[in-house]
This record gives sequence, C-alpha cells and structure tokens, in this order.
Amino acid sequence: MSASEFYADPRAYDIAFGGRDFVNECNFLEYSLKEFGRVEGWTSWEAEPAPKFQTSSLETTPLSFLELGASPARHARELARRGWRSVALDLSREMPDYAQAGAVAEGLKIETVCANMTDFTLQRPVMLAANLIDGLSHLTTNEHVIAHCRAVSRNLCLGGIFVIEMSHPKEIWHDSLPHVWTSKHDDGTEVDALFGSRDDPYDWITQQWTVTARLDIREPGKPPRVVESHSNHRWYQAQELRALVDLSQAVLQVLCFGSAAIPQPRSIADHAAIR
Ligand SMILES: C[S@@+](CC[C@H](N)C(=O)[O-])C[C@H]1O[C@@H](n2cnc3c(N)ncnc32)[C@H](O)[C@@H]1O
Repeated sequence: MSASEFYADPRAYDIAFGGRDFVNECNFLEYSLKEFGRVEGWTSWEAEPAPKFQTSSLETTPLSFLELGASPARHARELARRGWRSVALDLSREMPDYAQAGAVAEGLKIETVCANMTDFTLQRPVMLAANLIDGLSHLTTNEHVIAHCRAVSRNLCLGGIFVIEMSHPKEIWHDSLPHVWTSKHDDGTEVDALFGSRDDPYDWITQQWTVTARLDIREPGKPPRVVESHSNHRWYQAQELRALVDLSQAVLQVLCFGSAAIPQPRSIADHAAIR
C-alpha cells in the first residue's frame, strides 16, 4: 500500500495523530508571524480576540494561513477559529473533504485545495505557510524540496513566512524505532499506531527510508481493520535542508528552533538550540 492509500482513511489518521497540542502549536505559528513577518503595508498588530494586521489607521486585514500536507487541517481550523483566513492543501482526495466536514461541524470556514505541494497556485497569497509534523518527508528528492520552496514563495505575500516542522534526526534513526502508541476517541474508537519499524530499509544514496506505517483500528460495533503502508520518506538534516532552501532562492532568511514552543530564536549555526 502506498502513502496515498494510508492517508485515504482520514478519521483513523486524525485519531492516531490527534493527541497534539494544536492550540499551543498555533500560538507558536502566530508568534512566528508576529515576530518575523514583514508583510508589506503592515503597520501594527491588533490585539485579541481576532488579531489582524493594521494596514493603515482605518483598515485592517485578516491574517492568512496555509497548511501544507494539511491532513485533517487541525492547525488551519484552529487559526480559522481565531479569525484567520485559513487554507488547507493536501494531495490526498479524501483529506480535504474530511477537513472541510470537520470545519463545518465546528462552525468554521476554511478553504480546501487538493494539489501537490511542489506546484500549486492559491486564489490569493497568504502571510504564513506551514508544513508540519514531517510533511516534508514526503518530498524525497532535492528537486522536490526546491520546487516546494518556490511554490510556497509564489503563494506568500511579500514579507510572509514559511514554517517547517521536522522530527529531530535522533528520533527517526533506527535506534529509536519502532514508534508505537495508542490513541482513543471519545466514541470508543481505539487506534494502535506504528510509524517506522526497526527493519525498515534505508537507501544510503537516495537517503530514503521505506517506512512501515500501520493503524490497527477498533471501532465500536465494527470488525477491527488494519491500514498498512510501506512508502518512501526522506528526513533532511538541518544543514542539507538549509542548502536546499538556499538553492531555491525563495527564502531570505532561515532560522532554526528546537521545538514548537515559543522560544528565543537562534541561528541555525547555534548547535545548542537543536541538540
Ligand atoms: C504527515 S501528514 C500531515 C501532517 C498534518 N499537517 C498534521 O499536522 O497532522 C502528511 C500529509 O501530506 C500529504 N501529502 C503527501 N505528499 C504530498 C504532496 N506532494 N503534496 C501535498 N500533500 C502531500 C498526505 O496526503 C498527508 O495528508
């Protein structure tokens, strides 16, 4: 089974990967834009409840966000809840429909786009784009990463920012595998997840892993089922990612953070930040 088939079961994915602190992660995204964004015409940041850019003494512009490889779009939905224009982009046909249905159920408005993150065009540019929780690992060649940075840049407002979240290399190496956990939903559904098995093959030339991913799903009143895939991923080391971002010529400045907690910014050259 390929990655696309793995993501064809959005609800199981949502339950398995839904235990994160989306509110705090979105606080970090909001902080990043506020701290590092230099969007043209932006004169000040209006306070809560719905932060906006003040573009003149009379006008305000809603903040805008693009979640790349959005899956259920939990971040796009959280920022829509805060009054942002939010766009969720995913290659899978099932994920945007699932994300949209979730947004509607929560009384939120998001835009969904089914497209490849290496080449897409939004109706309007956004101020902040994010590729989170290893979505970048689906782009397995240098060329894909460069195309991705350029596509994001084409769809960003001038002075906008792009946040990439990747696993720490020590957490995805053989020694720390397998990654296994169990998640439970309020309706009684349980999902045992495995992402990365110790004997997954690694190609030293392409630097790609063939990653075993499995969801064992137990839903009340239904027979148990298993979704399993073996698909190629690549985890980029910090300096190699930096080199590809530089090669794309799409980004002016690169900063590296140790986590998605609101931190002191450090230069990527500062090893202490990411040890
Ligand atoms: C790791 S998951 C997404 C993480 C999600 N942002 C979250 O926080 O849960 C990766 C997603 O990227 C999507 N994807 C994989 N390759 C893609 C591509 N080339 N373009 C757009 N989406 C892609 C998959 O369909 C999947 O939904």
